[in-house]
Amino acid sequence: MLILPLAVSLLSFLPHSALASVLAIDYGTDWIKASVMSPGIPFDVLLNKDSKRKIQASVGWKKTDRLFGTDGFNLASRFPSDSFSSIKYLQAAPFDSDIVSYYTSISTAELVQTSRNTVAFKQSDGNEWSVEELVGMQFSYVKQLAESLAGEKVSDVVVTVPPFFSQYQRDAVVDAIEVAGLRTLALINDGTAVAVNYAMTRTFPTPEYHVIYDAGASSIRATVVSFSTSNATGVHTSGTQIAVLGVGYDLAAGGTELDRRLREMLIEAFNTKNNKDIREDKRGMAKLWKEAGRIKAILSANIDATATVESLAWDIDFKSKITRASFETACEDLKDHFARPIEDALRNAGLTLDNITSVILTGGSTRTPMIQAAIRATVGDEKIALNVNADEAAVLGAAFHGAGLSRQFKTKNIKVTDITPFDIQASYLATASTPRTITTLIFPAGSKVGTKKILTFKRKDDFVINFDYKTAPAPGFPTRFLEVGITGVAEAIANLTELGATEPVVKATLVLSESGFVSVSSAVAFGEIKDDSIAGKLKGFFGAGNTAEAEVTTPESAPPRDAESSSSSSSASATPSGVTNSTPEKEKEEKKKATPKDNTITLNTTVVFPTIPPMTVEHKKNARSRLRAIDLDEAAVARKEEARNTFEGYLYRMRDLLDEENRDTPFKQCSQEAERKAIAVKLDESFAWLHDKGDVAETSQFLDKRNALETLERPIVHRYKEIEAFPQALNNSQMWNWSTRLFLQEARENLTAEAAADLPSKWTKEELDGLEKTLKEHETWLNEWVEKQKAVQPNDDPVIETTEMRARAKVLETALAKLLKRRVPKTVKKKTTTSEAEPTSTAASEGAAEETPAAPAGEEKAEETIIPTPTPVVPEGEQAQVPLQTTHDEL
Ligand SMILES: *[C@@H]1O[C@H](CO)[C@@H](O)[C@H](O)[C@H]1NC(C)=O
Ligand SMILES: *[C@@H]1O[C@H](CO)[C@@H](O)[C@H](O)[C@H]1NC(C)=O
Ligand SMILES: *[C@@H]1O[C@H](CO)[C@@H](O)[C@H](O)[C@H]1NC(C)=O
Ligand SMILES: *[C@@H]1O[C@H](CO)[C@@H](O)[C@H](O)[C@H]1NC(C)=O
Ligand SMILES: *[C@@H]1O[C@H](CO)[C@@H](O)[C@H](O)[C@H]1NC(C)=O
Ligand SMILES: *[C@@H]1O[C@H](CO)[C@@H](O)[C@H](O)[C@H]1NC(C)=O
Ligand SMILES: *[C@@H]1O[C@H](CO)[C@@H](O)[C@H](O)[C@H]1NC(C)=O
Repeated sequence: MLILPLAVSLLSFLPHSALASVLAIDYGTDWIKASVMSPGIPFDVLLNKDSKRKIQASVGWKKTDRLFGTDGFNLASRFPSDSFSSIKYLQAAPFDSDIVSYYTSISTAELVQTSRNTVAFKQSDGNEWSVEELVGMQFSYVKQLAESLAGEKVSDVVVTVPPFFSQYQRDAVVDAIEVAGLRTLALINDGTAVAVNYAMTRTFPTPEYHVIYDAGASSIRATVVSFSTSNATGVHTSGTQIAVLGVGYDLAAGGTELDRRLREMLIEAFNTKNNKDIREDKRGMAKLWKEAGRIKAILSANIDATATVESLAWDIDFKSKITRASFETACEDLKDHFARPIEDALRNAGLTLDNITSVILTGGSTRTPMIQAAIRATVGDEKIALNVNADEAAVLGAAFHGAGLSRQFKTKNIKVTDITPFDIQASYLATASTPRTITTLIFPAGSKVGTKKILTFKRKDDFVINFDYKTAPAPGFPTRFLEVGITGVAEAIANLTELGATEPVVKATLVLSESGFVSVSSAVAFGEIKDDSIAGKLKGFFGAGNTAEAEVTTPESAPPRDAESSSSSSSASATPSGVTNSTPEKEKEEKKKATPKDNTITLNTTVVFPTIPPMTVEHKKNARSRLRAIDLDEAAVARKEEARNTFEGYLYRMRDLLDEENRDTPFKQCSQEAERKAIAVKLDESFAWLHDKGDVAETSQFLDKRNALETLERPIVHRYKEIEAFPQALNNSQMWNWSTRLFLQEARENLTAEAAADLPSKWTKEELDGLEKTLKEHETWLNEWVEKQKAVQPNDDPVIETTEMRARAKVLETALAKLLKRRVPKTVKKKTTTSEAEPTSTAASEGAAEETPAAPAGEEKAEETIIPTPTPVVPEGEQAQVPLQTTHDEL
């Protein structure tokens, strides 16, 4: 892709910070795409074990073997109850909701109800897995791929979600992330992620509007986005603003539904011809499902295709020709659905097609001709843009976004503002004599995420704020998603009154987070003390709460927490301290000053999930240990497999070395007959053992057996290595020997001359004598042993080791270096400076001085290099990594 090299240049790593990798996952109904941002690794999508750029979103079991990706998907035709795909449909779905019955029409998996009234899958062996666990397994699988690429633990993740994901579904995603042992950096709407990808390599000197059209498997969505780049001069002030203005979506017309319709045609064809009902055969249904996907792909480029499945069921081979025209007729009623999200998104954004520069197509289903035709008919050919990678734009955008959030990477400055597509209301019981519920639209559809609102209540007792979607976020989903009780009100209000506060009130801060979660971040009792002059001034600001039950909503653009404010400006290098947030921050400051601590009493909040609760910490802990246990088992199996393969490979290599044919090999030259015999015996023994016991042996046995052979081989290898290393070591020894001698010679001459001229010297005669003695010892030793070594046969052990040679040379080197470092005594500083400035007259000193650092021995060099300050290591135990959260308010 042309985009990638450019993107890399936009991205560099901040120096001097402990970098941790950031993972991005675009989790789709059919496919998972992932990308890992890690120092030194090119910015690209993550490849799976087969070097594929996308991973089928499936998990399956073949007996006890767990398989992911296409392998997991393909298991369905043999083990229809043990292969789980399209799981995204069921995230947070109530067991009795419409989507669950739809799911049973496309899948052969058996569904059961969880204690949270959500969905779990039942394997043929009785094991049950919740949706979060199965998704968590896939996240964990991706995590492992990322870790083996990055070469370090990966904890932080950004996951894409469709914009229409409600809080329930977002909770389910975050729960799966935590079950996988990851930590959520953010959730990002997939259309927004594509927009980020689009902006990565572009600038928008004049604002532009684009529609991101994404036709996926389970839905079609459109996102209207404005792009603008401020051209303030200077790298740090300029940046691109991305604002989501409207979204539209359709849950009925994705690629899966097209597959289903195609399969219906195949079922019809089979049943008619064979007078049987293929629906009764799970394996057959799974095979047809796969075949339908294949035929759909063929029909994207051809006007007809032939479905063929050998032995589909009852030993009947199936064959049927499907024309594109008949397929399109079967989908006639969906036609209106394909482009409608664009119209909805535009309407929600308050724009028309005239305002739109282009409609950017993404998502696998945009390859389907009838969908393309529908878009063309709606927006016109000239507006259609195919300028992002339809499969990878979302994950790359998400990764870029995550890199920004993590603040560890220096990225191009892209600021993202997203919205919620839902009307979200808060309601509470009024305290008037006749109880009634007061409902207020707290975050209307189109509200920016990353904002908070403060509700002010004139209450004297505990009360509950309920949060609802105005309409069900999806068919069969409840509207009520959260109830927050505010407690301790009576006492706090009484205390404030006692302190002299007039008409104390309760203020609750409601947050719509960057990742789309609604929560109450804090609740306080607040009262003004009358004589406080600044508070008096502020009265207008807060005072509207005076009338009974009226609430003040104070929108604040400042995100609730410091951590969040970084994500609101959403790109790494943007330090929020600078620009837009100044006003609210100032207000906060004033508020703080004007409000002595006594005037605000923190109240407790209690959170209840009345309908579809997220997993509890306990649930997640259990799930994580279940997954962890499987991972450990699989790792053990993999280790054993590897030990066995390595052992086997080693045996064959040894057999080869012993082979009569291979004469004059180093192995033969360096080994003795008896040694080879011993190895041959052990080798035969090992082959026999591998044959008999290989399948039941433990990892340690493979390692032990190999070790036993290696012990026999080691002396031979050692001889060979010594022979190889000897010339270098000798050269090194002689080099120091030579340098020292030259130095001594010159130093003695200088000493004599200096003594004659009555000048101070760097060395005394005794010191030079001492060095000479060391040199002599070295030479003597060298002479003696080199001679002896020369007489040693290749298949005998060496009489001197190169390590000893180097150690002895080192002694000499150290003695020489000690004298070389010496400065001329200070008293004659002037004279020596001038003399040192003169070019060196003898080659000797030059040679010696330069050899010191550039010693050819290589190893010695390490001593001189400056040891870099160690990078702080994140103390991260395998298990202790990421804390589990009760709720996801933080996001
Ligand atoms: C920003 O760039 C546009 C197009 O290059 C130019 O017309 C405009 O004057 C610039 N604005 C400022 C404030 O520099
Ligand atoms: C959208 O287009 C209409 C008509 O062409 C124009 O009046 C309006 O100003 C445009 N809106 C924006 C936000 O550019
Ligand atoms: C708030 O909760 C804490 C901890 O649960 C408790 O100790 C405290 O008494 C509560 N305060 C009020 C006012 O309810
Ligand atoms: C109210 O005041 C009493 C007495 O000073 C104190 O013990 C109590 O903690 C206060 N309660 C709150 C909620 O501030
Ligand atoms: C010894 O090392 C020097 C310098 O590295 C090199 O020029 C020379 O060829 C080497 N001699 C042998 C015998 O390796
Ligand atoms: C010997 O003296 C000359 C001239 O002063 C100087 O350049 C050289 O470095 C000296 N040699 C040693 C080994 O100190
Ligand atoms: C050490 O160096 C001197 C001077 O180059 C040389 O005469 C002598 O043979 C060397 N000794 C050995 C063992 O290489």
